[in-house]
Amino acid sequence: MEFQRQLETARELVEARLRTFFSGGGLEEAMRYSLLAGGKRVRPILTMKFCEAAGGVLEEALDFGCGVEMLHTYSLIHDDLPCMDNDDLRRGMPTSHKKFGECVAVLAGDALQAAAFQTVLSAEGEWRHGGRTAVALAAKILAEAAGEEGMCGGQYEDTAGDGQPRTSEDLTEINDKKTGALLRAACMMGVCASMGRREVDGSCMDAARDYATNLGLAFQIRDDILDAVSTAEELGKPIGSDAANRKATYVTLLGVEACEALVLDYTARAKEALERGRWLGDTAFLMELADSLAVRRS
Ligand code: IPE
Ligand code: IPE
Ligand code: MG
Ligand code: MG
Ligand code: MG
Repeated sequence: MEFQRQLETARELVEARLRTFFSGGGLEEAMRYSLLAGGKRVRPILTMKFCEAAGGVLEEALDFGCGVEMLHTYSLIHDDLPCMDNDDLRRGMPTSHKKFGECVAVLAGDALQAAAFQTVLSAEGEWRHGGRTAVALAAKILAEAAGEEGMCGGQYEDTAGDGQPRTSEDLTEINDKKTGALLRAACMMGVCASMGRREVDGSCMDAARDYATNLGLAFQIRDDILDAVSTAEELGKPIGSDAANRKATYVTLLGVEACEALVLDYTARAKEALERGRWLGDTAFLMELADSLAVRRS
């Protein structure tokens, strides 16, 4: 199937590039352990495929995508710490703090965050857009997504509220920040990577942002469903983590069935948003990716 073939091609590019970072011992060993533990690589695949849709080629966006994946991996290492979700399994392996201890896990996360920006800012390309290089624009997008207005702010609100009831508005805001922000950055950085050698229509950046916003909301609700109904073997991470932390999610608010409908609804909205871009390349893969993530089993 064409979709599967393109998915594998993009994933193999990411895996091969990620293997070239952090070959040393000590802290690098811990960084490599989590980064190369597997994972779906959704974010770098989005970065590369948005670059392609905007008229570029996958390789132009590879280092932007690897930067996003490093930042995501750092967020997972810290998310699993005893002071946050206190989970023992990640990507089918013991979590970083279980394997290396909490101090090393904190530092491996910190160092992966720095490495994410180093990787984005060192990306090679002949891009320049509106007086600001695409590299600087991509790094700015990533910084906004990672910080207080994005992932960290969302994680703060998410964990600070454990044990508290939540409205659907609260949950949408939390999910958008803790999960949507980084997916949004991944997609928008892909559009950035295509800039410079070609004229990218402004509608593409808006479409990437709106696709990712809806995809992010669908993605976190699907994650919460899997936490309730999947198995640790299939997920590669513990199930029941949200219940153990007395975390209010859409699943506790509405139940699994209504959540499945909500995931499909946000996925349809993501695809509609994508159609609003005036793309130079093909968007069929991104359409199918949204559908496949809505029913993912891990
Ligand atoms: C897990 O992300 C954390 C969430 C934002 C829900 P992924 O489901 O993308 O995890 P990996 O990268 O495949 O391990
Ligand atoms: C965390 O959401 C999202 C992050 C920013 C890491 P979860 O806590 O539900 O993610 P998992 O289920 O541990 O992967
Ligand atoms: Mg969490
Ligand atoms: Mg967690
Ligand atoms: Mg979860």
